Amino acid sequence: MPATVYLIVGLPGAGKTTHARHLELTAPALRLTPDEWQIALFGDENPEDKRDLVEGKLIQLAMRAAQLGTDVVLDFGFWSQAERSSLRWIASTVGAHSQVIYLPITPTEQRRRVTHRFATTPDQTFQMTDAELEHWSTLFETPDDEELLGTDLPPAPSGYPTWSTWASQRWPSLPDQYVAP
Ligand SMILES: Nc1ncnc2c1ncn2[C@@H]1O[C@H](COP(=O)(O)OP(=O)(O)OP(=O)(O)O)[C@@H](O)[C@H]1O
Ligand SMILES: [Mg+2]
Repeated sequence: MPATVYLIVGLPGAGKTTHARHLELTAPALRLTPDEWQIALFGDENPEDKRDLVEGKLIQLAMRAAQLGTDVVLDFGFWSQAERSSLRWIASTVGAHSQVIYLPITPTEQRRRVTHRFATTPDQTFQMTDAELEHWSTLFETPDDEELLGTDLPPAPSGYPTWSTWASQRWPSLPDQYVAP
């Protein structure tokens, strides 16, 4: 049976890591949470350029594991549709299924959870201001029905021969090595 690559989508505090930990046990799936690597490597500096490099290697690892038959959960957030489309496409090239899981959250509940979490587990998370939370919500692209149902996959943006090429530019440590079967 093909493996499944779960793409966990949602803003900070939406409950992504909580849900990913659940799938880790129930699927069961290899859970890849970039924050855990980012914090282990760089503490609370959270450098954005390094995050992209960390994520790229985790994606490469995830796709190899899926190719070998292991379910994988990518606990990344995936704010943009292009990010999600590229990984759905790459998953298909390694013979895996993919599933977009969207966790919605209201601004009030988000502020409550993020504040509570930072008060109780400051070593496992980053501090976030109200201005940041508000700005991030304007950048977030809510998944549409086609993504949630796993139907139509949009073509790669113009200028990119494949979604693999697009993904390797979005995540520079991810090799442009995926080809449609
Ligand atoms: N369904 C839920 N109902 C109530 N509280 C929840 C729920 N899911 C998660 N939480 C709580 O909300 C807080 C944030 O959850 P979690 O860390 O899973 O979010 P996240 O989406 O991974 O956030 P981040 O993007 O910052 O990593 C945690 O304290 C968690 O215990
Ligand atoms: Mg998390």
